[in-house]
Amino acid sequence: MRIGFLQFAPAFGDKKANLERVEQFLEGAKADLVVLPELFSTGYIFESKDELLELAEDEAGETFTFLKQLSLKLNMAIVAGIAERADGECYNSCYLIEDGDIRAKYRKLHLFDREKELFTPGNLSLDVVSVRGAKVGLMICFDWIFPEVTRILALKGAQIICHPSNLVLPYCPRAMITRCIENGVFAVTVNRVGTEARAGLELRFIGMSQIVGPRGEVLVRADDTEEGLRVIEIEPDLANNKMITQRNHVLKDRRPEFYGELLAIPAEETSPAEDDPASPFYRGETLV
Ligand code: ACM
Repeated sequence: MRIGFLQFAPAFGDKKANLERVEQFLEGAKADLVVLPELFSTGYIFESKDELLELAEDEAGETFTFLKQLSLKLNMAIVAGIAERADGECYNSCYLIEDGDIRAKYRKLHLFDREKELFTPGNLSLDVVSVRGAKVGLMICFDWIFPEVTRILALKGAQIICHPSNLVLPYCPRAMITRCIENGVFAVTVNRVGTEARAGLELRFIGMSQIVGPRGEVLVRADDTEEGLRVIEIEPDLANNKMITQRNHVLKDRRPEFYGELLAIPAEETSPAEDDPASPFYRGETLV
């Protein structure tokens, strides 16, 4: 199976330009499944809820029409992050589109930082769908820091996790290596690059899009500025082998009877240091 990602720098609010650029980057591509970044057609820093409502789309919107047509033209499945408008709410969503149809949809469960002021938290379950013989699960960006998300997708049989992102902290490329090892799955994390300066904020997106294999192998990784499509060949069935030693199965060896606290105990208050944009935790550290 040929899977890939498109790392690029969307221009805020300029859907026409962003869709055109995606079409150009994917022109002639030979792939079964390609993943685009989170919010790829709108950009990331919305000034206000009103601005988001204006740019977000329902499933009849232009970004959806574009992706449906592109999936037919290129004969590939496409996963993409989209600002979705539904019933007056906006969700940070991601869609899997194949053969001109929506095959799967996910709304980001764990909103990052200022997203909490703009988007409604996701309200759909984590699902796995078959795409060209492979089992595919969806999650979005900051979901990476909640290992429950990848675990649930793996328990539901996902072989490949598609992970549209707009990363600004440096941790995720390394963390996803662990997510893949602990679940025995492939993950396609696709980030954007470039800088957005709006609403009194300036964010630099870290790029470093990557495809990681079930043993934590970084099969391909982009750098922190490049734009372009990367496609590799993988064997999804390698993700069926969950044995980490001859005697250890990463899913069956779990002891859920001792994990009840995961559901029962509310999260503790965040410490002031974690809330402080000047703290090393918030800023992150240099990626090595
Ligand atoms: C993020 O969730 N966009 C960092």
